[in-house]
Amino acid sequence: MAPSDANQSTNFFLDGNFAPVSQECDARNLAVTGQIPKDLAGHFLRVGPNPAHIFDEAAYHTFDGDGMIHAVEFQDGQAHYRNRFVQTEGFKLEQARGDWIYKGMNSMLDPTPSRIPDGAPRNKNLANTAFAYHNNTLYALHEPSQPTVVTLPDLTTKGATNFDGLLKHPFTAHPKVDQDSGEMMTFGYAFQAPYVSYSVIDAEGKLIHSTPITITKPVFMHDFAVTQRYSLFLDFPITLDIERAIAGGPALDFEPEHGSRIGVMPRFGQDADVRWFEVETGSVVHTANAWDEGEEVVLQASRSKTSDIAGAGLAADNLADTQGQLYEWRINLTTGAVKERTLSPLRCDFTRVNDTQACHQTRYVYAAVFNPERPFSFDGVMKFDNAKQLTLSFMYGPDRFGGEAVFAPKIGAVDEDDGYLICFVQDELNQRSECLILDAKDIEAGPIATLHIPYRVPYGFHAAWVAH
Ligand SMILES: [Fe+2]
Repeated sequence: MAPSDANQSTNFFLDGNFAPVSQECDARNLAVTGQIPKDLAGHFLRVGPNPAHIFDEAAYHTFDGDGMIHAVEFQDGQAHYRNRFVQTEGFKLEQARGDWIYKGMNSMLDPTPSRIPDGAPRNKNLANTAFAYHNNTLYALHEPSQPTVVTLPDLTTKGATNFDGLLKHPFTAHPKVDQDSGEMMTFGYAFQAPYVSYSVIDAEGKLIHSTPITITKPVFMHDFAVTQRYSLFLDFPITLDIERAIAGGPALDFEPEHGSRIGVMPRFGQDADVRWFEVETGSVVHTANAWDEGEEVVLQASRSKTSDIAGAGLAADNLADTQGQLYEWRINLTTGAVKERTLSPLRCDFTRVNDTQACHQTRYVYAAVFNPERPFSFDGVMKFDNAKQLTLSFMYGPDRFGGEAVFAPKIGAVDEDDGYLICFVQDELNQRSECLILDAKDIEAGPIATLHIPYRVPYGFHAAWVAH
């Protein structure tokens, strides 16, 4: 069935502004409150799950939705909006049939016969999670799958790539681009050994290095981190277990007895080069950045005490334990000692830095601030200053929720925070979608421009900035 546009459902992820939209729209010269800075030129992009056809509305999981990109292009103080589905193979098959073909992760064991045609992919590459921009190429990403190439500014889908046949493993939604070397580091995790694989793609887009990474059992490894010298792997205890799922349990579960450790490997290292460091048990979904500092490797990420991702993350009674806080690990490669600590009291995720300085030491981390009462909901944005150990924030106001905010450097930027934070915000009371621009040097002042989008922009996953 196709979800209705009425955006009311008993499924949390199909209700209100989590509900998908069915139309692809364009709007030029968006109405603005305030002023769009003239030194902002490029594309603000946000991708998220937007199911076109659903097998079973009650069982639908937000990870199952077809990717849809919402884009705002800035040039000369003006802004244009556009949204497009990512036209993946699975999406096109379902559009041609006019109904569902793929059942979704919560319906794998449903006895309804498969509709997947012979020769079609057994799993849908959803391209719904995040972006990478590397070698002048925009990729829409989905971690069990291959990257999907999408062109700018029209958001036309070119298709999935396996890097001339050299990519042999799933490709994380969170590869890291070191803009100094031009290299893109990536990894993937799997149910079957090798449970983790890692690759480096050079500045010209050629995959030049791959290695398996040995861990004891498969885990949900959504993100990793990269410094100038090392790549860091997070063997944390959200375990993947197909047999547990077949026995009626969750495929993903938080198993604290698995422990938590961080693997540190030189950028062009092999499996045997990985040094593992035990750390306090917790849960990390997203890292912010990592860097080398003397004998130490420093990692900053959003970390929570536990995770209920197995239960779709909807239990509202333990949000304080499942919502992350900005956290730091300092791994001394000489002594083997690890120092770790919480950096900020605010509950946050979608941690970001100025992408031009990723893999190098950064002073500022930006993140979306969690609403303490409603799962999967962000009602503000924060900036953490490592030099001052200070958290600044801007809250969107009552009944207003946002998502990932990205840093966009201004033209001619000098300082690390010379630029803007951009995000979509939904005014739920008035059912209006907005795009906010904040001065990254003064986020507490609130938006310097609020763009009024004449269409509904549903909540989504990750965002990106691609400069002109
Ligand atoms: Fe993510």
